[in-house]
Amino acid sequence: MTLREKLGKILNQSMLNQVICSCDVVGDIAVIKIPVKIEHKADKIAEAVMQSNPHIKTVLQQTSPVEGELRLRSLKWLAGENKTETLHRESGCIFKVDLEKCYFSPRLSFERMRVAKQVMPSEVVVNMFTGVGCFSILIAKHSKPRKVYSIDINPDAIRYLNENIILNKANYIVESIEGDAKEVILGKLQNLADRVLMPLPEKAFEYLDYALLALKTEGGKIHYYDFVYTEKGKDPIEEVQKKVSEKLRTINITFRFTFGRIVRTVGPRWYQVVLDIYIHKKDNRANQHFNNLTLLREA
Ligand SMILES: C[S@@+](CC[C@H](N)C(=O)[O-])C[C@H]1O[C@@H](n2cnc3c(N)ncnc32)[C@H](O)[C@@H]1O
Repeated sequence: MTLREKLGKILNQSMLNQVICSCDVVGDIAVIKIPVKIEHKADKIAEAVMQSNPHIKTVLQQTSPVEGELRLRSLKWLAGENKTETLHRESGCIFKVDLEKCYFSPRLSFERMRVAKQVMPSEVVVNMFTGVGCFSILIAKHSKPRKVYSIDINPDAIRYLNENIILNKANYIVESIEGDAKEVILGKLQNLADRVLMPLPEKAFEYLDYALLALKTEGGKIHYYDFVYTEKGKDPIEEVQKKVSEKLRTINITFRFTFGRIVRTVGPRWYQVVLDIYIHKKDNRANQHFNNLTLLREA
């Protein structure tokens, strides 16, 4: 019997859809969200999830949104082995992750591969918000970059990233760096990247200056992620393009958008959008802006 059929016996249609849509399977752990109204049925729901897929060894309930600087969520054990760590396979790579201590979403697998496929041989990549290393390791395994500098402020994410580098034999390509992406770039990653990844929509706009600073003087590509709320009839991609264009123009950056898409819908009229931005050579006026950033830090 499928999960839908099993849950159909204990939930009404609308609750059933909410639970099914919220269910993520990471390795052998299923994470589900249970609406308050049916929390008293949590044990039965968890049992149905366990029985629907023999690979699932643990069912956890997500009891808070993904929140805070480290993008973490609270999890409550419901069924099976009481654990939060697992091994997840994606696009020929393997990722060890503790779902309570690190951010992880299997829903971004298409996006990660989309970016990985664009990387050209010998590129230097900076991943400003690497998490446990999914984008970085996929790039190392599927393309032939020279280096993928991978920054995260969460020490646990860096610990798992280091394990994942070894698990995926990406030792000499992916380099982990613990710290605030802003500080790390100012300190040691200026003007060296062909490509910069910014997979943290909450901070991408604030950190855009530092992504530009990390790019080589002759320019390169930025993968920029943002959240946007759009009024009826407006295009979310255009809205983000407008916001980013204004910012880039004020600091004299020449650029063009090479791609944009909605990565996922995150609420009514709320979207996560990605823009691929090609940055042309950083000219003297733009460089003046970056010199100021460096001077501000030294002051
Ligand atoms: C949305 S997650 C990244 C997900 C990852 N790219 C993936 O595909 O699994 C964002 C990450 O940014 C990290 N982070 C938050 N603020 C940061 C900062 N200022 N500098 C570096 N990393 C930061 C968080 O710890 C978190 O691991």
